Amino acid sequence: MRDVAGRSAVPVDVDIDLPGRPPAQVEAAAYFVVCEALANVVRHSGAGRAAVHGRAVPGGLVLEIRDDGAGGADPAAGTGLLGITDRLAVIDGTLSLRSPAGGPTVLRVEIPCPHFA
Ligand SMILES: Nc1ncnc2c1ncn2[C@@H]1O[C@H](COP(=O)(O)OP(=O)(O)O)[C@@H](O)[C@H]1O
Ligand SMILES: [Mg+2]
Repeated sequence: MRDVAGRSAVPVDVDIDLPGRPPAQVEAAAYFVVCEALANVVRHSGAGRAAVHGRAVPGGLVLEIRDDGAGGADPAAGTGLLGITDRLAVIDGTLSLRSPAGGPTVLRVEIPCPHFA
């Protein structure tokens, strides 16, 4: 994720602090989410900055990807956000999206991972 963030055309602050590596399918889904979210930031948001925040919580992990762009992200208007939801559903993860007109946009992802933390 730091690698992907480092190559982003929009600067990304990465703050991920986890007690270890989650199981492979959780890690893969989380990576997919961050890639898609940061692609959206570059393509759609007009943001000057973005941030990725990741923490373990009881029973799983939470990721937030935010940008200070124009807002208005709409899962019905494309395929990427729906793809994230589908990908997460396989591992009982959830996406919640806040993206009011004028911004900011915040994607919050929760992935259950009982024995992780
Ligand atoms: N971070 C964002 N900021 C502003 N608008 C966004 C953002 N992410 C997505 N959008 C809007 O929501 C739509 C749907 O996004 P997505 O499902 O990823 O489809 P796609 O990227 O293929 O267009 C985009 O077309 C864009 O209009
Ligand atoms: Mg997209």
